[in-house]
Amino acid sequence: SEIESKGKIGIIGSGLIGKSWAMIFASAGYEVVIYDIISSQVKDALTSIKDQLADFSKSGMLRGSLTQEEQFSLITGCNSLEETVKDAFYVQECVPEKCELKAQVFKDIEPFVRDDTILASSTSCTQPADFTRDLKRRSQCIIAHPTNPPYYALLVEVIPSEWTKPEVVERTKNLLEEIGQVPVCIKKMVPGFVSNRLQYAIICECWRLVTDGVISAEDIDKVMWAGLGTRYAFMGPLEVMHLNSEGFENGVERYGSSIERVSSTFGPIPSFSGEGLKEVVNQMNERVPLDQLEERRKWRDRRLAALAKLKQELSKV
Ligand code: NAI
Repeated sequence: SEIESKGKIGIIGSGLIGKSWAMIFASAGYEVVIYDIISSQVKDALTSIKDQLADFSKSGMLRGSLTQEEQFSLITGCNSLEETVKDAFYVQECVPEKCELKAQVFKDIEPFVRDDTILASSTSCTQPADFTRDLKRRSQCIIAHPTNPPYYALLVEVIPSEWTKPEVVERTKNLLEEIGQVPVCIKKMVPGFVSNRLQYAIICECWRLVTDGVISAEDIDKVMWAGLGTRYAFMGPLEVMHLNSEGFENGVERYGSSIERVSSTFGPIPSFSGEGLKEVVNQMNERVPLDQLEERRKWRDRRLAALAKLKQELSKV
């Protein structure tokens, strides 16, 4: 390629997430080598990446300042694990969500990487320490958990384990920021990390309200997308409270007791079964029939792309 690479990234696993990471790193000028246990999968992944880059370019959504051809020229497929990670300064593992499989992948690449290579996992596993505990290079391992779809949803949860070198945490955060993602550091291991904990809290309350007959499934989704979600696309709930009052402290004075009173009426964790399940499933299938899911996903992705574009423009003013 004519583009001077800024360094080599190795990607293990060329599924949905592996392809996304490849495009994101290439958009920032990094050389990306992508590997999969199924070699035909790598070939298909490259074709799909090429098509996606063309689509992004056509819709004005291509990230970075390089052309789609330049970005594509930075990405190559590889059928050797050793060649994929050799001389890479950063490796991103994207194999299926099975802790034993991930442990094996890290064990296999360990002999071929440098002492300063960062070994990052895309896992949403609850016990990340489990698959790095027995590695020689466990101090180089870290979790970088993306949000789907990573090309538009920029959040990456960065989770070190107790044996991760502090320098690895810093370098990972800096790299992710440089390529345009939004890393946050999770300082203490909790199941579900943080993004899923918030999501599950919301899903539980949605379930309770719908199955208690307070609101329909359709209307509760409106509460999110027409109400709370409008703000959340730009700022989090703590800043919302800070701005809605004369600062957060004043917000607590005004609303703290209401928050406590209302929260004390939240019900138990639902079991997602029985009549309630039938009810929610029926309402959802009526709204988006199962044979229209794919169409609706395209609709969603167009909107996420437009929002990402708007945010990009707004960040310049
Ligand atoms: P996927 O199933 O689309 O892709 C996994 C790829 O890994 C496949 O191409 C498979 O052939 C390959 N593979 C299997 N064993 C391998 C091995 N030993 N060596 C190399 N490649 C191997 O899965 P997806 O969705 O891309 O997920 C990957 C990881 O990212 C998982 O840990 C998942 O939890 C995580 N993740 C997924 C998100 C999502 O929404 N799909 C969001 C955030 C994280």
